[in-house]
Amino acid sequence: SSVRGEVVFSDVYFSYEENGNEVGDTLEEISFTANPGETIALVGPTGAGKTTLIQLLSRFYEPSRGTITVDGRDIRTIRRDSLRSQMAFVLQESFLFQGTIRDNIRFGRLDATDAEVEEAAKLANAHSFIVRMPGGYDKVLGADGGGISQGQRQLLAIARAILADPSILVLDEATSSIDTVTEIKIQEGLQWLMQGRTSFVIAHRLNTIRQADKILVLKEGRLIEQGSHEELLRRHGFYHSLYHG
Ligand code: GTP
Ligand code: MG
Repeated sequence: SSVRGEVVFSDVYFSYEENGNEVGDTLEEISFTANPGETIALVGPTGAGKTTLIQLLSRFYEPSRGTITVDGRDIRTIRRDSLRSQMAFVLQESFLFQGTIRDNIRFGRLDATDAEVEEAAKLANAHSFIVRMPGGYDKVLGADGGGISQGQRQLLAIARAILADPSILVLDEATSSIDTVTEIKIQEGLQWLMQGRTSFVIAHRLNTIRQADKILVLKEGRLIEQGSHEELLRRHGFYHSLYHG
């Protein structure tokens, strides 16, 4: 049927509450459209509201005003588990648990066969490091995924997301240093993963930002600019000043 993964924010506001009191708007007047398959980069200073915006999309929090739709449906009318199954998250602190590597990847889709788990790991560029470890896919990771490197965790998170096959992907790009070889593997795995899916990337790498279909520039909870890299540079606004330091 039709391509999926359209996301529309219409005049969305959000405030955190502390001791039952709202603490002022964290996000104000957020409106944008992510077309199916587009890559949307979220940029802006620390505290601008990038993570909060993503948490509204997954209904971890609810907007105080405005609506968010996915494929034309208000997300408040979509069951949480159904909404979550349309999304996959590759975060800096990917939530690995105590268990085998195989089960950690399978968490993306619990009914996946061993062959499907390994296929996803191959597409994510994770297979080669897994089979080189003692135990391979049956190696047991410690609590919090202890026993593997930061870069390897990301490769496992990518494999898990490929297995989940979501229409919407949320990616929080690593800021910590990852060795060049692993970084290339991650980028290749991500390229495969992001193809044909709507991707929201909290972006730190300039390359990712430049290649995005749309950049959302957040500042103090407001969406102050949106457009492609070239469009935003031409405006000589906040993005231009970020980009030129
Ligand atoms: P970085 O990840 O540092 O780049 O920032 P961000 O753009 O992701 O900002 P984030 O959405 O995390 O925060 C936006 C604003 O909300 C900031 O002023 C935060 O201090 C505030 N904030 C974030 N989480 C909470 C929370 O759980 N409670 C409260 N009261 N405020 C929060
Ligand atoms: Mg954040």
